[in-house]
Amino acid sequence: MSLPNWSITPEQRNSRSPEWRVPLAELSYTEDEVQGVTQVLRSGWWTCGPETEALEHEFAGHFGIRHAIAVSNGTAALHLAFLALQVSHGDEVVTPAFNFVAAANTILHVGAIPRFADVDSIQTPAVSAESLERAVTSKTRGLCVMHYAGYPCGMDSIADFARQRGLWVVEDAAHAPGAAWRGIPCGRWGDISCFSFFGNKNLTCAEGGLVATENDDFAKALRLLRSHGMNSLTWDRFRGHSFSYDVTVPGFNFRMDDLRAALLRVQLRSLDRFNHLRRERVQWYRQLLGQDPRWTIPFEHFQGTSAFHLFIVVLADGISRREVMRHLGSRGIQTSIHYPPIHQFSYYRSLSLSRSNLEITEDLGRRAVTLPLFPNMTHEQVELVCGSFREAVDREDAQAKRGK
Ligand SMILES: Cc1ncc(COP(=O)(O)O)c(C=O)c1O
Repeated sequence: MSLPNWSITPEQRNSRSPEWRVPLAELSYTEDEVQGVTQVLRSGWWTCGPETEALEHEFAGHFGIRHAIAVSNGTAALHLAFLALQVSHGDEVVTPAFNFVAAANTILHVGAIPRFADVDSIQTPAVSAESLERAVTSKTRGLCVMHYAGYPCGMDSIADFARQRGLWVVEDAAHAPGAAWRGIPCGRWGDISCFSFFGNKNLTCAEGGLVATENDDFAKALRLLRSHGMNSLTWDRFRGHSFSYDVTVPGFNFRMDDLRAALLRVQLRSLDRFNHLRRERVQWYRQLLGQDPRWTIPFEHFQGTSAFHLFIVVLADGISRREVMRHLGSRGIQTSIHYPPIHQFSYYRSLSLSRSNLEITEDLGRRAVTLPLFPNMTHEQVELVCGSFREAVDREDAQAKRGK
């Protein structure tokens, strides 16, 4: 099976990566990305300026969002979202414990308290209106949901629930550019939505992020907070639109630069194709792994449009995840864990936060393993992963039976 039509093949790259036969993720890019960045390098303007403006315009257009504000990374996007929502000391924000730590960390940075919600089930490892409701208390001001592995949460019922309880919703859409629920793209459901463009994401510029909103006041606050609370950018002054500036709030330097924006503008044009290729590879995985009582592949009956960010398998009790990962590693296949539950990290344990029951999260935290997935993964690579995975599980299974 030949590679999709990328003009830069893995062989042509000046590779700096270890020699995995199948890495967990791999960048997808062509000469177009190289040219996009080179043009900005030659333009004489590298910091936040016309490319960033163009990216924001194109991103907003692509997803039908009113305001898109590009920032330095996805964590900065979340931090700004909570600041713009004026989360304050002692407020609670309900968020999944089965998540990357960025949301919980930034909730703490704004002086608020993360209150962890469990996910729905092994088959649907995402929060739902019901699981969020179990975590909400009288101190809860808002919800920060995350579309795990690229599969949108049930956003219609979450939005209804939030409205009834007078809560705002932040969407952490780091895994979900191009995903949709009930035909509405992720990024348009939340009061404010956040994207990450880190190197392993569906859309990447190495490090980058973006905040999206329909609300003009939030957009104004987000733009100010992104750049020290100054009411004009260096770029505005360069092109003669202003001579000086005022500072109206104590903000941050969370700006994106034009080199990264140029890279993302090119990547954005390929997003639909990237996601289509991801979906095809997930179908290959599902066909090759089939149904087996020794593992579960979540989201089998998923009803929305996924961005297919991660491919997760949940091992049955009694199959050692560590041994399965070790075996795959010995075959040159990189695996990972998304995610170790946040409330079990040393720092979060030391906070002794009150929380609802997180049984399913803890179960997933013990049994979930992430297998490689990227757009230019070949059929041979998927076969190698599936064959090695089955081999590892057979070995573990036989060992467990001998042990009985
Ligand atoms: C779900 C989720 N949220 C937030 C982030 C933070 O994004 P960044 O790494 O760009 O700061 C990530 C990044 O890995 C993520 O996976």
